[in-house]
Parts: sequence; C-alpha cells; structure tokens
Amino acid sequence: AKSLAKTDPAKTKPPAPTKRKKAESDAFDIEAETLPQRIVDAAFRSGGYPHDKRMKRKHYDKGMEPLQIELQKLLAWVRETGERIVIVLEGRDGAGKGGAITRFTQHLNPRQARVVALSKPSDTEKGQWYFQRYAAEMPAAGEIVFFDRSWYNRAGVERVMSFCTPDQTDAFLREAPVFEGMLARDGIRMIKLFLTIGREMQMTRLHARWHDPLKRWKLSPIDFEAIPRFDAYSEAFDEILERSSTSSAPWSVLRGNDKFRTRLNAIRLVLQAVPYKDKDEAAIGELDHKITLTAARYLD
Ligand code: ADP
Ligand code: AMP
Ligand code: MLT
Repeated sequence: AKSLAKTDPAKTKPPAPTKRKKAESDAFDIEAETLPQRIVDAAFRSGGYPHDKRMKRKHYDKGMEPLQIELQKLLAWVRETGERIVIVLEGRDGAGKGGAITRFTQHLNPRQARVVALSKPSDTEKGQWYFQRYAAEMPAAGEIVFFDRSWYNRAGVERVMSFCTPDQTDAFLREAPVFEGMLARDGIRMIKLFLTIGREMQMTRLHARWHDPLKRWKLSPIDFEAIPRFDAYSEAFDEILERSSTSSAPWSVLRGNDKFRTRLNAIRLVLQAVPYKDKDEAAIGELDHKITLTAARYLD
C-alpha cells in the first residue's frame, strides 16, 4: 500500500518548486539538474563523518561474503530453536534503512525473514492502542522481522510533522521501554539500529532520487520536509536515543554516510548480538568503532 501511494505522480510534486527556484543559486533545489558544488563537496564528511574516502566496492564485496554465510547459520539456529528476533531500523529519509535491510535479506528464506514497512495509520488504526498494529507484526517462533521504520514514528516523523500532539509523543517515550520490556521478557530478542547521515548527504541522496526514474517512487511528500526540518529531526532523534535505550533493547547508532560501511557494520552488529550455533568470530571481523556507537557515546 505504501509504494502504491508513492507512485501517484500528483503526490511526488514538491510543494512550491517555482517560488523556491528563485532563491540564491547556492541553496538546495531538488529540481535543479545539478547540486551546488559546496553541497557535493561537503556531503561525505557531513555530520562529522569520520572517514575521508568511501570504501571500495572490492573491499565491500570481500567483507560481505563471510557475513552472508554467518547470517545463514544465524537463521538455521533461529529455525531450530524457535527463537524470535526483531531488528528495528530507524533514521532520516535517505539514511539507507531499506538498502541495509535488502543486504540482510537477500540470501535469506523469505518465509523466515520478513520486512515490515507500515504506511501511515488508517482511520481504524488511529482509534487503536498506538502499539497495536506493530504488536500484530511481531515474529512467530523461528522468525526474524525487520522493521523499516517502527513505533518510533511517534517520536520522529509524527512529532516533527505534527501528526500527533506533544503529549502523545511524551507518553510514547515513557511507554516504549515498557512495551519493549514486555517483548524482551517474553523472549523476543530486539536489535535497534539507528542510521544517521549528515545534512548535505541527505540533500545529495534525496536529489539523486528525484533525478533517477527508478528511485523517484521512493520520494514522498514527507521527504520534501526532511531538509527544511533537518534540525527538528535532530532534536527528536536525540530524545529518542536518550529516552529509549535500555539494557534489554539498547540502540546502536551507525554513522551512515558511506552505505558500504553501514551495511557491513549493521550485519556485524546483529551477528554479534545473537548467540547462534557455530559462530565464527573471525569471519564476523571487527566492528568499525568510528561509525558504530552506543547511544550514550553518540549523544556525548
Ligand atoms: P518512507 O520514508 O518510509 O519511505 P514516507 O517518507 O512517505 O515513507 O513517510 C515516512 C513515515 O511517516 C512513514 O512511516 C509513514 O507511515 C509516516 N506517515 C506519513 N504520513 C503520516 C501521517 N499522516 N500520520 C502518521 N504517520 C505518517
Ligand atoms: P543503493 O541504491 O542504495 O543500493 O546504492 C548503492 C549504490 O551507491 C552503489 O551501486 C554505488 O554506486 C553507490 N555507492 C554507495 N556507497 C559507495 C561506496 N562506498 N563506494 C562506491 N560506491 C558506492
Ligand atoms: C529512506 O529514508 O527512504 C530509507 O533510508 C531507505 C533507503 O534509503 O534505502
């Protein structure tokens, strides 16, 4: 339902493009053929990204292969033991959540690994307990469920776009650890990954989406608000990390300006967190601690 809404061409129009066009040529304009050079130059290091150069594809492919083998072992273990795993991906528009999930699931049995990307709540859902439609998607025995966005919408997009009241966001931030605590006590393992990108990187990725006919469907009206509201999102995300990182469901923050490093390290974080059988630590390798941080270290 989500992707259908996005293919509606009427909905992929930015709000007032013609007025914005007249702004200084140095400003971000998604419709302009090329981005101002200052944005292109700043993108990779934006948001304090700690590497100078992108990881080479050769290096990435080489790193990915053993991780995919370990993921197979993890899945076999989940199947045999009836474990239940939830992996939550959060982060700005264009942070690379969907791309990371794709690298997790590409060699996994679709019956065992499921992706949940809920669209905005229907009128019926709006009248329900906020967590209800998410609770309905929790894994059965032997299953891994990936959430591409999650219940954290209430303290992210819904807060920033005023789709809910400040009281609702505050109640959510009090209740999320309780909700997740119940899941944990019932035996569900939860891994929460927060992908963060810098302002110019977000501009670059959203611009690329607009100009790529195969990616334009990914842009929604919400995405056109992402850049003007960049700072409001930063504040909202900081509060999420501050208030919902608990010992049973901690957040891991991944600096995501380089998609290749992000994907490798996201998979490593998951492999490290799950005690599956015949785990090969050497095959998993080291986390890149420059880009993988605890919530506390990120907020510090
Ligand atoms: P995505 O970036 O996940 O591809 P969108 O950018 O369209 O999708 O929307 C971002 C998130 O905001 C989605 O999870 C969507 O369900 C949510 N959302 C959009 N509109 C509303 C709304 N009116 N109320 C609550 N949530 C909404
Ligand atoms: P996606 O559409 O999300 O799968 O984006 C992947 C594409 O981004 C690749 O095909 C590359 O062209 C490009 N890319 C992203 N990160 C890197 C990188 N570190 N090195 C080289 N190319 C990259
Ligand atoms: C998004 O913001 O749409 C996600 O990060 C998905 C992606 O970039 O793959």
